[in-house]
Amino acid sequence: QFTDTLKSVARNLEIKKYIQQSNELYPIFERASKRFVTGDSREDGLSVGNQLIQKGYRISLEYIGENTTSKDECIQAKDEFITLMKECAKQGLSSRISLDLSHIGLSIDPQLAYQYLVEIAKEAQSDDLSIMISMEESTKTDQILSIYKRVVVDYSNVGITLQAQLQRTLNDINDLLNYAGTIRIVKGAYQEPPDICIPRSQNLNERYLELVDLCVKAGKQVSIASHDEVMYQQIIERGYLQNPNVEAEMLYGIHPDLCKQLKDDGLPVRVYLTYGTEWYLYLCHRIAEYPPNIYVAITDMIRG
Ligand code: FDA
Repeated sequence: QFTDTLKSVARNLEIKKYIQQSNELYPIFERASKRFVTGDSREDGLSVGNQLIQKGYRISLEYIGENTTSKDECIQAKDEFITLMKECAKQGLSSRISLDLSHIGLSIDPQLAYQYLVEIAKEAQSDDLSIMISMEESTKTDQILSIYKRVVVDYSNVGITLQAQLQRTLNDINDLLNYAGTIRIVKGAYQEPPDICIPRSQNLNERYLELVDLCVKAGKQVSIASHDEVMYQQIIERGYLQNPNVEAEMLYGIHPDLCKQLKDDGLPVRVYLTYGTEWYLYLCHRIAEYPPNIYVAITDMIRG
């Protein structure tokens, strides 16, 4: 209930605008975001990325943004991703670049998102980097998968995120096994209609493991993107994280102890780093998916 309410509040543009325009509230929320977002600038993301790589982690980098509604903003986002990749190449930073297709035009015209994704994938190929497309609300799943399939045919360095919570994902994954590209499996961050979605439950965990099984047995590159300790235990027992095609991936600032423990056990762990000024929705998602984070956020807000 709390999760659903918070997700609705997070998506309310009036509330977001109110907080962004408030001289009192904005800095307080910004402080809370620091636990989950590396900072406002590309340099912040690159700097934390470099430190993590030195500690033995792999990294994903995302310039935060979604549902961009003007072409100029899409071009700015696409250019930022390209500059980010050039900078990674210059610094010898082997990173995966994560992005939402709605950040680069999906909400305006799917063809625009396709065109910009191709530009980004081309740059990634020349910099020897990979791209990972995030999965958004179920109303966008068909469009995202269709763009992905068009692009991955020419750019096998592009991967796709799939949400275990959607009933359709079992079919989608069986289809995607016929394509190149890494698959990242997440439980799903969006509030979806009950007839198409499996809620957080043992059933969802079993479905998640079923999807991982399918990918591993097909020899796919797969990212297990979760913070669920119990599920990781089962994945380790099956020997999957010892398989060179499989890695764990966790969001920066979330369950860092588990992240470190897996890495110290010699298992491959990728940390997903974000930067940018559009951190508001990202912060709300992190709180909504794990309500105890509200206490962490309030503590960060008060402590400064
Ligand atoms: P679950 O939510 O069941 O939580 C299991 C346990 O993990 C909790 O009991 C707690 O111990 C710990 N935990 C989980 N969330 C926590 C938090 N926020 N803070 C502290 N502890 C927490 N979603 C999506 O819809 N599209 C996408 O493209 C992506 N991309 C993505 C990339 C990466 C790298 C990750 C790790 C996650 C995503 N997600 C996502 C988010 C994902 O769908 C999901 O909402 C979160 O990972 C939380 O689900 P868990 O699998 O961690 O388990």
